[in-house]
Amino acid sequence: MLWRDIVTDGDIINAEDFAADVLRGNSGGHDISHIRRVMNNARIILDGEKNSGADANLVLLCCALHDVDDRKIKACDAEEFSRLREFFANAGLSDRLFEQVMDIISHVSYTNNHTKNPALCIEAQIVQDADRLDALGAIGIARAFAYGGSVGRHMYGEGDGTTISHFYDKLFLLPGLMNTITAKRMADERTEFMKEFLTQFNTETKDTHI
Ligand code: ADP
Ligand code: NI
Repeated sequence: MLWRDIVTDGDIINAEDFAADVLRGNSGGHDISHIRRVMNNARIILDGEKNSGADANLVLLCCALHDVDDRKIKACDAEEFSRLREFFANAGLSDRLFEQVMDIISHVSYTNNHTKNPALCIEAQIVQDADRLDALGAIGIARAFAYGGSVGRHMYGEGDGTTISHFYDKLFLLPGLMNTITAKRMADERTEFMKEFLTQFNTETKDTHI
């Protein structure tokens, strides 16, 4: 078998199908629709950053596969990237490409990457931006409440630990962490919308905090 280093359009379609299969049964924030939104965000960023020299197919492949070994989703096999390995073996993609994709994907999650890292390759920067954008805007609001509900958080109220407090603890920090100008612009727009939402939310929930 010839091991390929170059990502084809077919690989991207197969990777999306593979992710749909692995993520089946997840609800809310981390299902295949999240993957599709992240891929769409990445396409917009790639379009806005045409001179960046990014390998577009590598970016899209990483977007498609970025959550298949997420330790928050599938316990225990994240460290070994076993599902990713399985995909690469079936697709006939090289070890070199596997290492590259693993490296990019390991830099996506916010949990392990709180600060800007200018040393990241451009592909990792774009995948990271594309994923973070999905935590902002109308969809970001929806995902936050879906997640909060799934772990039994109050929507709002006094103190930390509510879904609304998560807006301030994490989500409003994301625009400042964007790597690319295109993503920063999108993040600012989405954050603006969330602030409008909060204004209305606060009016409707006035004097009811527990
Ligand atoms: P990632 O996989 O990108 O690191 P997470 O798994 O942390 O993202 O979050 C997935 C979604 O759940 C995001 O939209 C995020 O805003 C939301 N979320 C994560 N933690 C909380 C929380 N404590 N309260 C409300 N929403 C949360
Ligand atoms: Ni994600």
